[in-house]
Amino acid sequence: MQTDTKNQSMLDEVLDGLRQSQKSLPSKFFYDEKGSKIFNEITQLKEYYPTRTERRILDRNITDIGRHLGDKVALFEPGSGSSEKTMVLLTRLPEIKYYIPIDISGDYIFKVAEKLKRQFEGIEVVPVQADYTRPFELPEVNDDVRNIVFFPGSTIGNFNLQTVHRFLNVVANIAGSNGGFLIGVDLKKEIPLLEAAYNDAKGVTAAFNKNILHHINRKTGANFDVDKFRHKATWNEKKGRIEMHLIADKDHTVQLNGEAVHFSMGESIHTENSHKYTLDEFEEMVSPWFEVKQVWLDENRWFSVQYLEPVG
Ligand code: AVJ
Repeated sequence: MQTDTKNQSMLDEVLDGLRQSQKSLPSKFFYDEKGSKIFNEITQLKEYYPTRTERRILDRNITDIGRHLGDKVALFEPGSGSSEKTMVLLTRLPEIKYYIPIDISGDYIFKVAEKLKRQFEGIEVVPVQADYTRPFELPEVNDDVRNIVFFPGSTIGNFNLQTVHRFLNVVANIAGSNGGFLIGVDLKKEIPLLEAAYNDAKGVTAAFNKNILHHINRKTGANFDVDKFRHKATWNEKKGRIEMHLIADKDHTVQLNGEAVHFSMGESIHTENSHKYTLDEFEEMVSPWFEVKQVWLDENRWFSVQYLEPVG
């Protein structure tokens, strides 16, 4: 079993969540190479509207978006994954001089970056392996470019309020006083549509949810029996979010590096929150750091792409 410092810190975070009375796991641990691949599958499901809706918004408004970003841009993307959503920007905005994908899954983004370097010869691609929810070092970019942070996919919906605040600080630091922030934000809508997006008929989201346990087993030597858990995703009206859980189907005990964690039948591990906002709620939440300058929507008003600038 591996015991390097990275896996030790993963084990610490895992145990931290599993020692609480409502057990939980950090959703960033969904994304090993397999998890990133399953997530890509999710984005192609008919029930999962966010990805294709956001892509259509970006596509239809690309010229207007380019006008807001400025004429020499360094594009930073925390949690870039496959960089698929960024393609529309990289292919259609010649203003982009640097692209800095930042992701926790190093194996994956270095591979992706090599491909992008070949595909976009006019763009300097500088991948950074980092957990962007913590402080990390930024690469040097040239003097006269404007730093724009791109955060698509409504990933901000995964964060609790404290993490949102920490993240907005990180973004504000990257952007600097004259930079900008282009972000995708999923909006509140009818509950059946929301719940269907996280309970697809093919069970891809269920596989994605369970993969967090496979990933933890592989990296920390834990012995989760994944078949003893089932996927659950429901709308929490009071908190304004979809919650994903893994529910234990029977009483059992899991061993994590010598620590026994007990599960009662029906007990859940809370694995993910996906907050949805109204435009007003979102504007209010970011207002200590950013001013909303422009909002682009689809015709159903299901999803938004927003351009923000740092306040005073
Ligand atoms: C990538 C965080 C935006 O919350 O909709 C998809 C992740 N989880 N299906 C989301 C996810 C289950 C997704 N984000």
